[in-house]
Amino acid sequence: DKAPVVTVDGPGGSGKGTITQMLARKLGWHLLDSGALYRLTALAAERKGVSLDDEPALVDVAANLDVAFEPTPPGEPVKVLMDGTDVTADIRTETCGDNASKVAVMQPVRDALLQRQRDFRKPPGLVADGRDMGTVVFPDAPVKIFLTASAEERAQRRYSQLKDAGVDVNIDALLEEIRVRDERDMNRAAAPLRPADDAQVIDSTGLSIEEVLVRVMAAAGQA
Ligand code: C5P
Repeated sequence: DKAPVVTVDGPGGSGKGTITQMLARKLGWHLLDSGALYRLTALAAERKGVSLDDEPALVDVAANLDVAFEPTPPGEPVKVLMDGTDVTADIRTETCGDNASKVAVMQPVRDALLQRQRDFRKPPGLVADGRDMGTVVFPDAPVKIFLTASAEERAQRRYSQLKDAGVDVNIDALLEEIRVRDERDMNRAAAPLRPADDAQVIDSTGLSIEEVLVRVMAAAGQA
């Protein structure tokens, strides 16, 4: 009686955000951007003056997040509201992503966000984007995808995005940040980034968004 779920896990910059948004739209299903919850926890902590070492206080922040996701026209990022204020851009900075991956190593913080994530599972179905969607949050999902790409390609994509947005960045610095974040996400004890045993791995290196979407749609068709 449970609604179907397609989980899409993988490292940052693998194109998951764009792909899951397009997939959810095509299927007419709900979308969970679980990374946004970790980013929001980091942002709320910063705004409340909570230190990233203060685990009990971070758990409290995570448990009491006041968030809303609002749909937007195709191609635009989902609008994210915290305490009623638009924080869509604030949670996308490199600093916020880095801080998110620091709070995400704490098991009690992950526990505090678990039920909130499972509550996204509603008819007609859910597309869930993250690191541990297939391994921890929705272990019974009928379709699990692990979307990856080489670190170099992910750095290149991020570089182009930032350049288009008028941000001046150094590609070597981006690559280094990606490596550090991958390392932290894969080597942590709590829900490390890895494909579920029953996940289909899709390597998007050298593929266009459209080519990846075709593969992901084919896999999702089995849900
Ligand atoms: O996907 P995104 O870059 O928004 O995620 C930010 C950080 O949140 C990741 O680097 C990861 O450490 C953490 N995260 C996580 N589990 C998830 C989603 C994100 O630990 N399901």
